[in-house]
Amino acid sequence: MKKNIIAGNWKMNNTQKGTKELIAQLAPLVAGKDDCEIVLCVPFTSLNTARKAMRGTNMKLGAQNVHWADKGAFTGEVSAEMLAELKCEYVLVGHSERRQYFNETNDTVNKRVKKALEFKLKPIICIGETLEEREKGKTASVLEKQVTSAFVGIEKSSLKRIVVAYEPVWAIGTGKTATPEDANDTIWIVRKALRKLYGRTSASAMRIQYGGSMNAGNANELMAMAEIDGGLIGGASLKAEDFAKIVESANKVNE
Ligand code: PGA
Repeated sequence: MKKNIIAGNWKMNNTQKGTKELIAQLAPLVAGKDDCEIVLCVPFTSLNTARKAMRGTNMKLGAQNVHWADKGAFTGEVSAEMLAELKCEYVLVGHSERRQYFNETNDTVNKRVKKALEFKLKPIICIGETLEEREKGKTASVLEKQVTSAFVGIEKSSLKRIVVAYEPVWAIGTGKTATPEDANDTIWIVRKALRKLYGRTSASAMRIQYGGSMNAGNANELMAMAEIDGGLIGGASLKAEDFAKIVESANKVNE
């Protein structure tokens, strides 16, 4: 049975001090919640501190981006080898904020995913439609395109190392969550796109998270939906108690 996966996306938050404090607060709250996987995607500058602070806990380390080249003249970027050296297990790829503010495209997402896999990192591929796309009835075609492009050249054997996060852009950081039914239906569109590429069994086995204003109050309902295999949490991942409650919701479903 696949385990739910709850990933905190800290975005550009927390210094070394804040990183140590938050992980110290979280550790006892999520201890023993082992029926789901718990990941913290921290800023690059916090990776090493987080790695040390997480020792002996059930939390795993993640980064928020990775470059597609092995190394070289790419000022401001970080390579897969650098992340692997820090024992990073997961990495977010193609978050909507990267797409919106830093010219991330479906093509660069695919290149980053491939490089991450080469270095045994597990990519969390973020996809989602904007409000405008939704209102124009383009949600399905946008998501299909994002999925098809992200997986170009990716072998079926790599799928177990990949997570997809469906995050409607209009729900990120806005307090507007998709209803559980809506999130479930849209994730089904994503799963169907994966089915077309890899077949029914492989697509069913893949974990697809929901993200976008998921919080302690709505996590139970969202996690209860059949197609939702976890959450990617922004704002609420910065508060230990809220994040722990979301972990609890994901853990309960599997009991
Ligand atoms: P949010 O962010 O939970 O603050 O809406 C989610 C995300 O951007 O991954």
